[in-house]
Amino acid sequence: MAPRFIAKQLAWPAGIGGWLVRAGMNRGNARLNSYAVDQLQLVPEDQVLEIGFGGGAALPRLIGGASFVCGVDRSDDVVSAATRKFADVVRAGRAEFHLGAVEKLPLRDGTFTKVLSVHTVYFWQSLEAGSAELARVLAPGGRVVLGFLPKGRMDRMNMPADIFTPREPDDIAAALKATGFSEIEVRRPNSETAWAVATGVRN
Ligand SMILES: C[S@@+](CC[C@H](N)C(=O)[O-])C[C@H]1O[C@@H](n2cnc3c(N)ncnc32)[C@H](O)[C@@H]1O
Repeated sequence: MAPRFIAKQLAWPAGIGGWLVRAGMNRGNARLNSYAVDQLQLVPEDQVLEIGFGGGAALPRLIGGASFVCGVDRSDDVVSAATRKFADVVRAGRAEFHLGAVEKLPLRDGTFTKVLSVHTVYFWQSLEAGSAELARVLAPGGRVVLGFLPKGRMDRMNMPADIFTPREPDDIAAALKATGFSEIEVRRPNSETAWAVATGVRN
C-alpha cells in the first residue's frame, strides 16, 4: 500500500507535505506534462484552462505559448503558490489562478479554446461530471487534453481506493463522447510508455 499521506497529498496538496509533493510531481510528471502540452497544439491566440495544475509543471509552457492561461485547482496552497510564482504574468492580465473543482468550475460557458488536465481524473467524482464541465467552458472547436496513468498501471501502485479511482482509457473516451466531444483519441509516445493522453474536440 502506498503511504496514505503521500496519496492524500497527491490528491489534495496542503502544508509542508504538499510543498514537497508539488516539487516531486514537477520532476516525476515532467515527461507526461510535456507530451500533453504538445497535444494541445497551442497557438498564440489560445485561451487555455488547466485543471489541477498542482506544482505547475505545465504552466511555463502554457503561459509562453498562449495569450491567456487560467488555472483551477481545489487546493488553496496550490492556487496561492502559483499566484505568487507567476505574479508578473497575473499582474499583466495574462494569467489567473482560482480555487475550484472540475465538477463545478467557477468559469463562464464557452470561454476557452484549450483545456488541459494531467493526473486528475482519478479524483473526479465521475468522469461524466468532469467532462461535462470541460465541454461547458470550452468554445465549439476547442480542444481537450487529459493525461493519466491507465487503470492497469495504476492498480500496480496499490493506491488507497478511497482516494484514487483508477480509470480505463475506454471509459475516459466514452465520457468525452457522451458529453459533447468528437475526434477522440487515446495515445502515448510509444508502446513502452506507462501513461497515456486522451484528446478530443468540442462539438
Ligand atoms: C496528482 S496532482 C497533479 C498535478 C499536475 N497536474 C501534475 O501533472 O504534476 C493532482 C492535482 O489536481 C488537483 N485536483 C484533484 N482533484 C481535483 C478536482 N476534482 N478539481 C480540481 N482540482 C483537483 C489537486 O489539488 C492536485 O493539485
